[in-house]
Amino acid sequence: MKDTLEECIKEKKTSYTPIWFMRQAGRYLPEFREIRKKNPNFIKLCLNPNLVNKITLQPINRFDLDAVIIFSDILMIPYGLGQKVEFKKGLGPILSDINFNETINVEPQNFLQKLLPVYQGIKEVKKNLKGKNLIGFTGAPWTLLLYILNKESPKNNFDFNKINKDKDLVDKLLKKITEFICLHIDKQIESGADTIQIFDSWAGLLPKKELQKYCYNPTAKIIDYLKSKKINVICFPRGIGENYIDFCSIVKPDCISIDYEIDPEWIKEKLNGLPIQGGLDPKTLLTDKENIKVNVEKYLNIFKDYPYIFNLGHGVLPETKPEIIEYVINIIRNKK
Ligand code: CP3
Repeated sequence: MKDTLEECIKEKKTSYTPIWFMRQAGRYLPEFREIRKKNPNFIKLCLNPNLVNKITLQPINRFDLDAVIIFSDILMIPYGLGQKVEFKKGLGPILSDINFNETINVEPQNFLQKLLPVYQGIKEVKKNLKGKNLIGFTGAPWTLLLYILNKESPKNNFDFNKINKDKDLVDKLLKKITEFICLHIDKQIESGADTIQIFDSWAGLLPKKELQKYCYNPTAKIIDYLKSKKINVICFPRGIGENYIDFCSIVKPDCISIDYEIDPEWIKEKLNGLPIQGGLDPKTLLTDKENIKVNVEKYLNIFKDYPYIFNLGHGVLPETKPEIIEYVINIIRNKK
């Protein structure tokens, strides 16, 4: 039986709005913070199938959502490739120095063995889900390349020319990362994922003339690879503005997730019925209820007769009150 997310994407059904939130399992939930407090090593937490199952299901135990996203992280791929990944309070992720020749020669079996608990976690969740869509995910090649080379969030420190300096290394790494993303997605599908979301969180840092090489081409390769698997793929090339249109015509995802800088009216007109997800600024959920209602309804009205999945334009902020998530869901569910 098709779930509501699949109906929206595949059948372009418009009479029901599926809802899920990026980072729906995360620090805004007291029950997540409770588990996190006892598990100071974040990567280890992502490698604990029992807790992955528990955390993934936390948001649907509270809210009437249509999908769950597996609790994991895009940085599990650098970890699988042999890079040490740590999360420091206030700094975000910190990745270790690595020998890139070794990275390029990592064997698929070694990579998959390191990430085995992630797939076991997905299987666990699948057993406990009824009629809801299970979303697996990956970082896009560019965003992962950036973390691997930059070794910290580009928020703290970023220079495109530095990343782009050794062109031979960049080409080899991009190829390797793209190949291993496909392996990682394959295993997630095999373990029960119904949909795959590709997060290109830092696509917006690329100069326009580099989008083809770093963003469109490698992502299109992944989508092509997945065509035969008949799985729905949602892409989120955050921050690329008007280039969203080129992205969709070149990469051809099944659904496109928009960030909050995208004018929803504009993109709806341009996309010829391609299913759209998200858009609302997560900061809106930190304001008063009247303002939240006006803004949620704005998206609902614009996408009234359009295949639309309700989500935000980026992840739920840690400061968000859980009851506000409930409030937003009620607005959507009560709308006729
Ligand atoms: O609920 C879900 O959305 C599923 C789980 C999920 C996490 N990370 C858990 C997480 C998903 C889909 C991600 C994706 C992810 N991870 C992205 C792409 C989406 C985006 O936000 O742009 C990126 C860039 C990362 C890398 C990453 N992981 C960063 C930059 C950070 C630290 C930032 C922060 O918020 O502190 C993380 C840590 C992380 N990943 C947390 C969670 C719940 C917070 C961990 C904590 O408790 O400290």
